[in-house]
Amino acid sequence: MDTTYLEQCVANIKVRNLVNEDVEVENQSPLTMIGKGRQGAVFQVTEDICVKVFGNNEDCEREYYALALGQHTNLFPKLYHKGPLHIAMEIIRGVDLREYLQSQPLSKELSVKLIEMLITFKEIGYERIDHHKRQIYLQQDGSLKVIDVARTVWRDRVYPYPRKLLNSLGTENKEVFLAHVQELSPVLYDEWIHYIRMEEIASEIYQVLLESPKKNVDMVKALSDKLLTTNDEERYVILMAGLMHKVFKEQWVKTMLARGEETSKVYEKIDEYWDKQKREFKALKENQGNDHGGDSVDPIDAESQKGGKKKGKGKEAHHDGGKKAGNANSKNKGKDTKKQEKDKSKKKKGKYSKWLTFGLM
Ligand SMILES: Nc1ncnc2c1ncn2[C@@H]1O[C@H](COP(=O)(O)OP(=O)(O)OP(=O)(O)O)[C@@H](O)[C@H]1O
Ligand SMILES: [Mg+2]
Repeated sequence: MDTTYLEQCVANIKVRNLVNEDVEVENQSPLTMIGKGRQGAVFQVTEDICVKVFGNNEDCEREYYALALGQHTNLFPKLYHKGPLHIAMEIIRGVDLREYLQSQPLSKELSVKLIEMLITFKEIGYERIDHHKRQIYLQQDGSLKVIDVARTVWRDRVYPYPRKLLNSLGTENKEVFLAHVQELSPVLYDEWIHYIRMEEIASEIYQVLLESPKKNVDMVKALSDKLLTTNDEERYVILMAGLMHKVFKEQWVKTMLARGEETSKVYEKIDEYWDKQKREFKALKENQGNDHGGDSVDPIDAESQKGGKKKGKGKEAHHDGGKKAGNANSKNKGKDTKKQEKDKSKKKKGKYSKWLTFGLM
């Protein structure tokens, strides 16, 4: 092929992409246009070669890449030349399936060829294992050829079954094709039906969500308070102590292990330290009296019991802490009676403020 001549012709063809429309073409070359779509326009160059001129470079690269993946098979036009905005390729003859199926039935033989086509797509690495019937050509020898493959590659999301092919066949031929697939490969048929069903359910759910947005929004507005954790100070302290415990432990372990300490010793030290904190907290609570009733929860105990791992040790420490708490209690009482009187008269809200400060440190 004379590429210089081709380049000259292409230099005189301007193709512009439009939104949701076929490309706009300005052809001042001697070539005849044989077709166009949203990505490009196709011109006859020789008896057997055409050139597709694209509106943008990315579509051109993508189509070239996809066609290149299948060059060792018989399914795609042969590639001859590539420029930044054009690809010269073999002209595909025969009749496309849209036209063919208008007058002919979808035979089992044709269904077999379509399944083989999908298998080839998969084998050569296409992400979208699917194609519209009008881009599939039936040749005189009965084989299939496929054009316009840019959208089969460089994709993130694809339908996991050949949705476009099935839908493009129309209701009747879709049923015929699925019946052939069921007979030829029941497992594949089951998988496709599964995905079709999933899609139907997804679309039903979408309708349900679409129809009741106000109800849902109102419900969320009314009930989202249940997810808040900072309004109840006692609960907040428990959660904050738990958070501190987790962060502290994680950071300490990292630091100690980075320093080459032994894992078991590091955990022992952490437990010792945390038990000490628990004892202090216990002492503080008892020191403040039982003004919040007998059902109070030690935040640190609550956290360690939830974690489960140190449950036994936690209990022990709690007991031990109780003894020391007594000392701390009497000590503090003597020291700070005035302050405690003041604290008691305060609302329950400020009760854990010291521990909040500790927790936030
Ligand atoms: N290799 C080819 N041989 C013969 N005709 C071709 C060939 N490639 C494309 N055509 C013709 O040109 C038309 C447009 O080509 P094509 O479908 O590849 O364009 P497109 O812009 O990528 O389309 P789409 O908008 O579907 O992506 C085809 O419908 C077909 O008629
Ligand atoms: Mg295309």
